[in-house]
Amino acid sequence: MNDIHTHILPSIDDGSRDAETSIEMIKRLSAEGVRKIALTPHFYASRNSVDSFLEKRAAALGRLREAAEGVELGAEIYVGAEVLFMDSLDRVEGFERMAIEGTKYMLLEMPFTMWSSRTLETVYRITSNGITPIIAHFERYIPIVKDMNMIYELPRLGCLLQMNAESFRSFLPKRRALKFFAEGVAKLLGSDAHNLTSRPPEIKPAYDAIAAKLGEEKRREIIALGDSILASATRVI
Ligand SMILES: [Fe+2]
Repeated sequence: MNDIHTHILPSIDDGSRDAETSIEMIKRLSAEGVRKIALTPHFYASRNSVDSFLEKRAAALGRLREAAEGVELGAEIYVGAEVLFMDSLDRVEGFERMAIEGTKYMLLEMPFTMWSSRTLETVYRITSNGITPIIAHFERYIPIVKDMNMIYELPRLGCLLQMNAESFRSFLPKRRALKFFAEGVAKLLGSDAHNLTSRPPEIKPAYDAIAAKLGEEKRREIIALGDSILASATRVI
């Protein structure tokens, strides 16, 4: 299994607060059978330049590497960012460096305010720059945009839609999540883990639910897509 959306990198965003917590989070995922993990801290272009963010990320990674020395993590680690959408994001200096390192795939968090046609135009320009956005937890935007056509437009523009594993923890969201995977609208899973308690590193139950309801082949398809995204990525630990 893989997990392409996590806030495991220590003390860089509202995720893991220290390297020890980060190690524990990675171990929990690897105990579930996760073998590839992307660390995707929040990036807000309105607050940080790409350069200063990458510097902070490298420092956080340094702390994690140090703490991981001699520890059997059980998973390969990659880095990226969860980039908050803004209009003209494609014109932010160096924005393409926010992709998962070594790839053209970028985890993109869409706005939590009403979308406009300009929103989709910006997404279009991002894809035209050769970046494939992975839309972070797309299920969370449904109550905001209301119009499902806006959501369905994203895969048409070349985006991959990622769903959070927490969607599988309660009955109605789970039923809806399964429907999106069955239809092929949802393509990827992420734990979006922030800590060990309220937003935990847990993804296997979601993969298991998909296998149980939609068949083993579906689970394999999702894992294969995540693995193929990370196949060209730079392994950092
Ligand atoms: Fe996230």
